[in-house]
Amino acid sequence: MKNILITGGAGFIGSHVVRRMLKTHRDYTIYNLDALTYAGNLKNLTDVEGMPNYTFLKGDIVDESFITELFRKYRFDGVIHLAAESHVDRSISNPTAFIHTNIVGTVNLLNAFRHIWDGNYEGKRFYHISTDEVFGSLGDTGFFTEDTPYDPRSPYSASKASSDHLVRAYHHTFKMPVVLSNCSNNYGSYQFPEKLIPLVINNIKNKKPLPVYGKGENVRDWLWVEDHARAIDMVFHGGREGETYNIGGNNEWKNIDLVKLLCDLTDQLLNRKAGSSRELITFVKDRAGHDMRYAIDCSKIETELNWKPSVNFEEGLKKTVQWYLDNQEWLDEVTSGRYQSYYKDQYHNR
Ligand code: NAD
Ligand code: TYD
Repeated sequence: MKNILITGGAGFIGSHVVRRMLKTHRDYTIYNLDALTYAGNLKNLTDVEGMPNYTFLKGDIVDESFITELFRKYRFDGVIHLAAESHVDRSISNPTAFIHTNIVGTVNLLNAFRHIWDGNYEGKRFYHISTDEVFGSLGDTGFFTEDTPYDPRSPYSASKASSDHLVRAYHHTFKMPVVLSNCSNNYGSYQFPEKLIPLVINNIKNKKPLPVYGKGENVRDWLWVEDHARAIDMVFHGGREGETYNIGGNNEWKNIDLVKLLCDLTDQLLNRKAGSSRELITFVKDRAGHDMRYAIDCSKIETELNWKPSVNFEEGLKKTVQWYLDNQEWLDEVTSGRYQSYYKDQYHNR
């Protein structure tokens, strides 16, 4: 029996990781630690919350004494650390929250793990989940590899880069058994509609303008979230200690082409006139410091762990649109209250 702590398990990717770990590793006890910020939602886990090997713990990774006590009590053998402030636009309007959670929170977890095991790390593992945004921005060609020098350019990516460096420093200095991965943009069910894909689907549904930053020429590499969760399972179990694995979809899209595809898929699924939702596309003021292109070379995880993306993008996107159409109650709940004021602040001057 192993005690595994997953942080940020009530968020988008974390909820898929919790679900996968519960279902594929029934001999583990899974503890999901989450502060339930605006991005965390226990409704993301209703299908698995009754499983006997699952426990939810509400708490903040920034609270050092709480974290120390928690590790003393449960003596986690493994940590899969996803809790983070994750939205670039919010990091532009309020960088400090990103420093607290992403940097201080990560250090609190590293310290607590180190102190309970005190150098006896046999069979233990601390897995830090990161992003491709730490590598900066690409021009028209090239890919991020695990050796690409870090060049973060938003407060979000700078805070993630800092946490990555700290995790590696604890490996080097204290011999902590860590592993890391840096993934490209994820899409799928349960993503908070502040990120491009669910925001656009929700606006199409409600016939609201679809805000495309700048000229819509920025490129992102999209990966289905369940493929990411599978990669996380594989790296957690098979990744080499101290190593980093890049994870990506081999699937680059310009924002404007992606938004048009979302319009067409949603029109089809809602039986709307072909082309009608494209009329909602509205070019708005660009994001400050907007990274132009991200693209991942994921040959290391493909070769070492035999992982590759399983889902064709158009199929995955169609399933995703259908999920948001079918889950009106979930959308209504997360887009009520605080979301409305966020949306107004973020988009009224654009
Ligand atoms: P998310 O914003 O949907 O979820 C984050 C979760 O962390 C939420 O449940 C939130 O309540 C929790 N949380 C935030 N601050 C906390 C704190 N102080 N203490 C405890 N819990 C806290 O994020 P996501 O998109 O699921 O991303 C998860 C991880 O994956 C992050 O580390 C992110 O950097 C990384 N990542 C995300 C993407 C992506 O496309 N979304 C891509 C690559 C890497
Ligand atoms: P986002 O989903 O916020 O992810 P990230 O910034 O981490 O890549 O944004 C994806 C891309 O879509 C990014 O280039 C910014 C752009 N974007 C828009 O054009 N309009 C929007 O309303 C949002 C949220 C994002």
